Amino acid sequence: MKKPIIAGNWKMNNTNATTKTLLQDIAPLVENAQCEVVVCVPYTNIDTARKAIRGTKIKLGAQNVAWAPKGAYTGEISAEMLKELKVEYVIIGHSERRQYFGETDQSVNARVKAALEAGLKPIICVGETLEEREAGKTAEVVIRQTNGAFEGIEKAYLKRIVVAYEPVWAIGTGKTATAQEANDTIAIIRKAIRKLYNKTAANAMRIQYGGSMNAKNASELMAMPEIDGGLIGGASLKAEDFAKVVNY
Ligand code: PGA
Repeated sequence: MKKPIIAGNWKMNNTNATTKTLLQDIAPLVENAQCEVVVCVPYTNIDTARKAIRGTKIKLGAQNVAWAPKGAYTGEISAEMLKELKVEYVIIGHSERRQYFGETDQSVNARVKAALEAGLKPIICVGETLEEREAGKTAEVVIRQTNGAFEGIEKAYLKRIVVAYEPVWAIGTGKTATAQEANDTIAIIRKAIRKLYNKTAANAMRIQYGGSMNAKNASELMAMPEIDGGLIGGASLKAEDFAKVVNY
């Protein structure tokens, strides 16, 4: 059985001080969670988060990782550095990275490889923009992004990978894909993974939905057969809201 995974993506929010209090508030509320619970915090808050979640159900994630192991890459953080801080998961290819920081299918692929080689678990984000959706290109875009991200990734690594389907138009907008739409697009992504590998690997892959997922709509989304979890932005910044999603 696949264990669902709910991950909070804090984005560029919280200082070390608020990281500690927020995690202290979340921890008791998710104690009986049936799913895996992850918080992906800013780099500078990782150490504080690591200490705050000790002995709790919460696992630690980062929001990006460099493709190179080390060297002259000003501003980047390597997979080894994250491992040293006991980071387990790392978001790669979030649409905000693709939109504002020039991330491409190639750079996403290179970051995924670096993360896997260092023993991290990538959460690979794919999803279409509003323009692409209106042009009827959703399937084409998510298939291209999936193929790009998995290029050259050996089958042995698949167990450690999570995919997040995040339609860009639904992120932070309050607009959610309907549960059916999310389910259908995730099925397309799963089929792309099946083509790259095989049916067993595709069925075992956990694919999350993300984009305005919250306390109100989580249970409906999580009831869909293709949806194995959620990547939660806004609603992960309030303890009660995040806990409600986790305990969908
Ligand atoms: P949102 O963000 O839940 O605020 O829409 C999701 C994400 O970007 O991961």
